[in-house]
Amino acid sequence: MDLSGKVAIITGSARGIGKEIALRLAEAGATVVVSDVADAEPAAEEIRKMGHQSLAVAADVTSASDVAGMVEKVTAEYGRIDILVNNAGIARDQLLMRMSEEDWDAVLNVNLKSVFLCTRAVLRQMVKQRWGRIVSISSIVGIVGNPGQANYASSKAGIIGFTKTIAREVGSRGITVNAIAPGFIVSKMTEQLGEEQKSEMLKRIPLGFLGTPRDVAETVAFLSSEEARYITGQVLGVDGGLGGL
Ligand SMILES: NC(=O)c1ccc[n+]([C@@H]2O[C@H](COP(=O)([O-])OP(=O)(O)OC[C@H]3O[C@@H](n4cnc5c(N)ncnc54)[C@H](O)[C@@H]3O)[C@@H](O)[C@H]2O)c1
Repeated sequence: MDLSGKVAIITGSARGIGKEIALRLAEAGATVVVSDVADAEPAAEEIRKMGHQSLAVAADVTSASDVAGMVEKVTAEYGRIDILVNNAGIARDQLLMRMSEEDWDAVLNVNLKSVFLCTRAVLRQMVKQRWGRIVSISSIVGIVGNPGQANYASSKAGIIGFTKTIAREVGSRGITVNAIAPGFIVSKMTEQLGEEQKSEMLKRIPLGFLGTPRDVAETVAFLSSEEARYITGQVLGVDGGLGGL
């Protein structure tokens, strides 16, 4: 997959899955914009050390003015935006009866409103180019639900409805819009689980092992490529078969 000449913005890419996506797209030759609320510079610097162009942008994706500022900065610097990866996300878990309005709003704003704001902000440029790739990170939880995650599951299910709708709105402009639904991915959270919880989790995964941020990043690279030009409005599970059961 060759992404040379392409400019990619990845939200929430200072660390975790977003950072892995940033590194993978850079490996494929893309110029990568590392966007995060803070601390975006170290990841951008790592990419520059790999010999690729990279720009760090501080932006809160829940803020329309931050998002507009980010898009202006990127178009001023590179003159184009080819790929947007909506990755920034948070969780504030609580059973519904105890869930505060604040935790509901925070999760919906960071995980879903951000996808609306960022996608809307890059579309003008992509329409002008008649080429674009939007990839949003949903979750298996948005498909099957999970106790204690009503806010998170709703935000991730919302991404799926958004993806399918915008795919229909912009398909004629050469822009594809897809979502990825990761299952259990190795992260700080999964590292903290006890042995018993881990083996329970593994029993439910047909492939028998946890995914890595790299597994998600490879899928983003594919959906961002020319090779994926006939795929739009899809939700691709990266879950070791978990979602298929
Ligand atoms: N880790 C998993 O197992 C898993 C599974 C399914 C889906 N996901 C999704 O993948 C994405 C990345 O998850 P992760 O595990 O790497 O999480 P993480 O917490 O390691 O990284 C999330 C990033 O988003 C950034 N962020 C948070 N709020 C922001 C805001 N308002 N504006 C800009 N950036 C903001 C954070 O600073 C951080 O860098 C999330 O959307 C998450 O819901 C993760």
